[in-house]
Amino acid sequence: MCGIVGYIGNRDGADIVLAGLKALEYRGYDSAGIALLDKKGTAHLFKQVGRVDGVEKLLLADDPGDAPAAIGHTRWATHGGPSVLNAHPHANSDESIFVVHNGIIENYAELKEWLIKEGAQFVSDTDTEVMAHLIDHYYKQSKSFEEAFTKALKEVRGAYAIVAMTTHEPGKLFAARLSSPMVIGVGKDECIVASDPSAILQHTKKVIYVQDNEMVIVEAGKCTITDLMHDKKVLRETETLDFDINQADLGDYPHFMLKEIYEAPQTIRLASLGRVNADTNTVKLGGLESVTTQLSHVDRIVIVACGTSYYAGLVGEYLLEEIAGIPVEVQLASEFKYRDEPFCRSTALLAISQSGETADTIAALKKVEDYGVLRLGIVNAVGSTIARMTDAGVYCHAGPEQAVASTKAFIAQVMVLTQIALNLAKEGHALYKPMLAEIEALPAKAEAVLKQADTIKAIAEKYKNYRDFLFIGRRYAYPVALEGALKLKEVSYIHAEGYAAGEMKHGPLAMIDENFPTFALAGDGPLLEKTISNMQEIRARKGKIVAVTTEGTKAVAQHADDAIYIPATLEQTEPILQAIVMQLFSYYVATAKGYNVDRPRNLAKSVTVE
Ligand code: AGP
Repeated sequence: MCGIVGYIGNRDGADIVLAGLKALEYRGYDSAGIALLDKKGTAHLFKQVGRVDGVEKLLLADDPGDAPAAIGHTRWATHGGPSVLNAHPHANSDESIFVVHNGIIENYAELKEWLIKEGAQFVSDTDTEVMAHLIDHYYKQSKSFEEAFTKALKEVRGAYAIVAMTTHEPGKLFAARLSSPMVIGVGKDECIVASDPSAILQHTKKVIYVQDNEMVIVEAGKCTITDLMHDKKVLRETETLDFDINQADLGDYPHFMLKEIYEAPQTIRLASLGRVNADTNTVKLGGLESVTTQLSHVDRIVIVACGTSYYAGLVGEYLLEEIAGIPVEVQLASEFKYRDEPFCRSTALLAISQSGETADTIAALKKVEDYGVLRLGIVNAVGSTIARMTDAGVYCHAGPEQAVASTKAFIAQVMVLTQIALNLAKEGHALYKPMLAEIEALPAKAEAVLKQADTIKAIAEKYKNYRDFLFIGRRYAYPVALEGALKLKEVSYIHAEGYAAGEMKHGPLAMIDENFPTFALAGDGPLLEKTISNMQEIRARKGKIVAVTTEGTKAVAQHADDAIYIPATLEQTEPILQAIVMQLFSYYVATAKGYNVDRPRNLAKSVTVE
């Protein structure tokens, strides 16, 4: 997903924008660029395929001096492959207008055809370049940049977070948002526009979240917001960002992914801080208090999410059904949007998203906008689109997750789902007290799992060259098997499948031989014997097995080639500990193969396009 940073103020915007782009590198990109206006209002443009460092080298070589205005971009190619010409910022023909854009202009082809007929000369294959020429077309008519920018915005369809800069008005940036995230840091006599707060954090915590259909004129320390739907000015107070810079820093870790895996104990604590109290036997979720009455009438929950968040939702299905006694259906957001399913008003929609900006999940929420149903969210990024679209929700409080592969977010999401299930549990549920006690004990148990890192690393070394992997589990461990397979896939590029262990005889067993190992999640729960028999089926076909089982369980190791032991816990809280094992295993396989675990090929941290 692309990254945008813009600066207007009295410091050198080039330094700030380039540093901001580096803070956004975790999102994944293939080219980068920056446009700046020097103190005389002269424009300079630097673009490069590859890393932000390459753009920095070009700029230093040219040494344009301090730039009070600058806009920069990291591009994840959609229309047109990675190239200098396709890199942003894009400009009009006389380079008096520069534009950076995150999203998609769906009607760019027809606009481009019309603009070419009007004499525009295009140099790239991108949809974004259309915006530069469209603004230029209207500016030539009105000589008002605000009017030209507004007119151009009203012509385009699709999704955008866009920032324009012009030599016609060097003391301003012009920003607008529709469906793609945008936040503006408001400092003393300066402003920084960005796709997400990590590019702003080191300068200010005072931010304005730009909403859909809003255009903002950004000046040094001042923002003027216009609601484009109603053509009226909007007054909005700044908010304070709720995480600090060191959370977004790598610290002594080699990769963000490892750092974020090691944050698991803290993540568990933060997700339940001020919410779970084993002494008073209560689970207090402030974010749901405003909808208590509606919740009491909910007789079904549909969970919508993507990727890892979807698998967290599957754990939530078991939790909510067993503890709260509410029927749950978990659907991939990308499928939910296009399904024609009957939807009763007593059904609640629960969206789970780390970034809060995933296009498919946003689309799912938009689909039920007029259904009159309760829309809930479990989100990590405070103030994000999904957090704002839902009627109520529970934040994960996991802090920024920089690695593309989601780790601590999964832990946090399952923790929140556990607390929601307990919060909705009927009085006196047998699991209520034991789970409250177990939640208090979980951070220490997570620490114990992390202490197995060297064992897991050695196993990863042993299995890193296999080309296929199966992950199996039953009940609560089944979604963890699915998530474990996703983790291995996305950071090590090994084909991996998660399967319900009970399904082995219905097909997957045919794949098993000495070249197709299996990760068996075989905790000491009620179905252990059945999982052991699945393991026996696999070993009878020479399949190798890595078992994850409970400390002290003797019955498993004899049926596995390798065993990883985790502390005893409830079946309902075991996914948290098993997930840490999966995450470490995937991390060590990928690093043993020399891959970039924080930025896996072809992937982006938050998929803000369908
Ligand atoms: C998880 O490791 C992936 N990076 C991806 O599947 C992610 O979980 C998915 O894109 C959903 O993102 P969200 O939680 O921000 O909505």
